[in-house]
Amino acid sequence: MRKLLIIGIGSGNPEHMTIQAINALNRADALFIPTKGEKKTELAEVRREICARYVTRADSRTVEFAVPVRRTEGVSYDGSVDDWHARIAEIYERLIGSELGEDGTGAFLVWGDPMLYDSTIRIVERVKARGKIVFDYDVLPGITSLQALCASHRIPLNLVGKPVEITTGRRLAESFPARSQTSVVMLDGEQAFRRIEDPDAEIYWGAYLGTPDEIVISGRLADVKDKILATRAQARARMGWIMDIYLLRKGADFEE
Ligand SMILES: C[S@@+](CC[C@H](N)C(=O)[O-])C[C@H]1O[C@@H](n2cnc3c(N)ncnc32)[C@H](O)[C@@H]1O
Repeated sequence: MRKLLIIGIGSGNPEHMTIQAINALNRADALFIPTKGEKKTELAEVRREICARYVTRADSRTVEFAVPVRRTEGVSYDGSVDDWHARIAEIYERLIGSELGEDGTGAFLVWGDPMLYDSTIRIVERVKARGKIVFDYDVLPGITSLQALCASHRIPLNLVGKPVEITTGRRLAESFPARSQTSVVMLDGEQAFRRIEDPDAEIYWGAYLGTPDEIVISGRLADVKDKILATRAQARARMGWIMDIYLLRKGADFEE
């Protein structure tokens, strides 16, 4: 039976690769690598470097594929994501069917960890449910951008005994600071932290984590908000793209 390995490759530093991930990489006959267009060639570059550094078997093949752009006009957010996943599922189905032999193994190299704001597992399940190709799959964990953020700032994720929320910029206002003392924000194209006015809030922000371009800023939100906005805008203009994540905190350990 065909086999798929969904491998978490870490969030920018090739040294995030676990030994388990490296071994999985070398079990695959074909490595499926997404290319996301010119702006994010650095991301494709990290994947290529990982292959160059860690793939030791001579007969493994790299298969690059283009990820379609999500259509947003005239559809709801859910409808747009559903349509996008359906189109990616067709690409996966074609890759699995045409690039792998009956007993072949293929690997998807997933940024960070496949369980965190990533739909590879969901889409692979979709392909399985269509039933046109029979295959099995395993998931190998990776270092998330959230772990990279906390490590770079040298902070624990949670306050002692307290919960944590992971959310998107679009939904931040629903939770922080009223409902959550620690909120981690990913996929924030609007810099939602700029609208938080709480005088006690602290922010730990990071961009391009794990890469040579990593930038981190932390402090009382009111004091560093403008600095983060300016730094982010400059970096985005210089690089042509940006990936950033931040943690907002209110309160302290041992405080009810
Ligand atoms: C589609 S999600 C993928 C998350 C990934 N699966 C993970 O485990 O981190 C993309 C978001 O992750 C965050 N992200 C991923 N890599 C990052 C990095 N190296 N530096 C900063 N943020 C990053 C950003 O918030 C970005 O918008």
